Amino acid sequence: MTLPEQQILLDMPESSVTPTIENSGPKSDGQAVVLRGLHKSFGPQTVLNGVNLTVNSGDTLAILGRSGTGKSVLLKLIIGLQQPDSGSILVQGQEITGLDLQAMNEIRKKMGFLFQNAALYDSLTVEQNIAFPLKRHTKMTKSERRDRVKELLASVGMEGDLKKKPSDISGGMQKRVGLARALALKPGVLLLDEPTAGLDPITSGEIDELILKLQEENHMAAIVVTHDLQSAKTIADRLAILHEGNVLIEGGFEDLEKSDNKFVMEFMKRDS
Ligand SMILES: Nc1ncnc2c1ncn2[C@@H]1O[C@H](COP(=O)(O)OP(=O)(O)OP(=O)(O)O)[C@@H](O)[C@H]1O
Ligand SMILES: [Mg+2]
Repeated sequence: MTLPEQQILLDMPESSVTPTIENSGPKSDGQAVVLRGLHKSFGPQTVLNGVNLTVNSGDTLAILGRSGTGKSVLLKLIIGLQQPDSGSILVQGQEITGLDLQAMNEIRKKMGFLFQNAALYDSLTVEQNIAFPLKRHTKMTKSERRDRVKELLASVGMEGDLKKKPSDISGGMQKRVGLARALALKPGVLLLDEPTAGLDPITSGEIDELILKLQEENHMAAIVVTHDLQSAKTIADRLAILHEGNVLIEGGFEDLEKSDNKFVMEFMKRDS
């Protein structure tokens, strides 16, 4: 069975040009992702109740919040896996709500995404999983692809596991492979859902360093959902706490530390 998260890459039409932030889409004055008044309910349950957020190119926004507050839903709306009930989502200046699948797929090529469940293809090896977007969307030769896959795997500390299947590696290792795949096309927008969950502190630290390094090199906009406050502090320029359907607070780490909101104080204390 193919999960919706796995279907995304399969749906994307083949192309021979690596999409980059420079060569595609209308100009957006440095605003990579803009969310305005986002509402999303499932039946009677309101999950997002008018969320506003902006992420500029080159910036990393960490999204924090308790389990079930809609962090993963927010990322799925940006990647077009779910549709908002109302509100606007601009990706590099282009409105993506209401786009048909073909138009959405064009936008998706500019986005790298790591889902909470990693969403690797079970029947493909680690190497094939990472080579997948390269094969579909670049002109790379087989040996160039192999080199790029090796480079990506080395950057997440997984170079020794090329031939393994996802079922033969741990959850944390699957995350790292998912991260490598998300970075394969050097996306302008990177969406990461719990990239360090299930990893030991040392590996988590390495992944954080990697995200920082890639940010500097590629000038991506990144939205990182994480439970790990330390990780958020390390990688993010700004942090936002989602609470009861809204952004409770948004700012630098120090702004959150200074907040006298009861929930923010509890949240910072609990995780620090
Ligand atoms: N497809 C769906 N159908 C119905 N309800 C859904 C669906 N997707 C998400 N939800 C509900 O929306 C709420 C938010 O889910 P979401 O996965 O975004 O939480 P989260 O903040 O990512 O939590 P966690 O930190 O545990 O990953 C949950 O109550 C969830 O059950
Ligand atoms: Mg989640």
